[in-house]
Amino acid sequence: MARPLPELLAQLDDFLAQTLSQIRSAESLDALETVRAESVGRTRGALNDFKRSLADVPGPDKPAFGARFNAVKTELEGALEERRIALAASKPARATLDLSMPARREWRGAKHPVTLVMEEVESIFRDLGFTIATGPEAEHEWYNFGALNFPPDHPAMDMHDTLYLEGGGLLRTHTSPVQIRTLQSYPPPIRIIAPGNAFRRDFFDASHAPMFAQIEGMAVDEGISFVDLKATLAHFANRFFGETATRFRPSFFPFTEPSAEMDVACRICGGSGCATCKQTGWVEILGCGMMHPAVLEAAGVDAERYSGWAFGMGPGRIALQRFGIPDIRIEYDSDIAFLEQFAQ
Ligand code: DAH
Repeated sequence: MARPLPELLAQLDDFLAQTLSQIRSAESLDALETVRAESVGRTRGALNDFKRSLADVPGPDKPAFGARFNAVKTELEGALEERRIALAASKPARATLDLSMPARREWRGAKHPVTLVMEEVESIFRDLGFTIATGPEAEHEWYNFGALNFPPDHPAMDMHDTLYLEGGGLLRTHTSPVQIRTLQSYPPPIRIIAPGNAFRRDFFDASHAPMFAQIEGMAVDEGISFVDLKATLAHFANRFFGETATRFRPSFFPFTEPSAEMDVACRICGGSGCATCKQTGWVEILGCGMMHPAVLEAAGVDAERYSGWAFGMGPGRIALQRFGIPDIRIEYDSDIAFLEQFAQ
């Protein structure tokens, strides 16, 4: 049955307009492929129906219809290719952008609480003109004990049992050997702090660990007195803990005379007494004293001319106070839930 050319051409134009708009709104390559198959596709394409209707076009109109048919087909193929290129270019972004997916949490590394304490202690003493010094963890007995005025077999060594190494030497039981090593290398006046690890045959309990960090401090010059020691450490405590009460208790260390231990008011209970401070209201944060003349002499320093003070503090224990950590073993657990609380 013959069909008038204008009607066929109008249908062809409608089809073109409709298909072009489908092409432009195809949001994926799959969707575009469907549009292609249903328009210019060889088997299912609607354009085939138009081709078939060529048979119904009156003879003289055939060339006009044929030309228009070819133009529509070319235009659709061009539009399909253009859209395909555009979609392919933006494909990765579209394929991975799932707006309903919960955002991935940003992971930031955190410094360990003991590291935070050590860095803060270091920065306070740096402000006071102290230099950072270090020494070996595998140490000679002489540096660990002899030079520090431990008489052979003195009971003070009972608290310093450690691993002895084949061929002599030991894992240092404190950072105090760095006092000797520093004085051997640099003449007074000298002010250092020496952060590092120490090792002891201690039980692993709520307040002890067989391997722990220490920070040694030392000031040697002419005329250094106990006043300098007390004032410096009180200044440190106030800067580190905020205004805080401190007290010095007499103590004993072979390498200091007189010796003391410094306590700060317990941060957990505010001084009223709790399990952490063993109901005393105070916690010990360091040992200290005036350097024994025998120590200065062992390091080659003239003890008639120079005097000095020294201290040794445990940043692991200080971190318990600072952050309200109830048990020192937690510091060794590598528990992410604990550690990530310190991410800034
Ligand atoms: N070395 C001592 C210890 O580990 C701590 C200490 C006490 C260090 C008094 C000192 C000091 O420098 O003067 O138990």
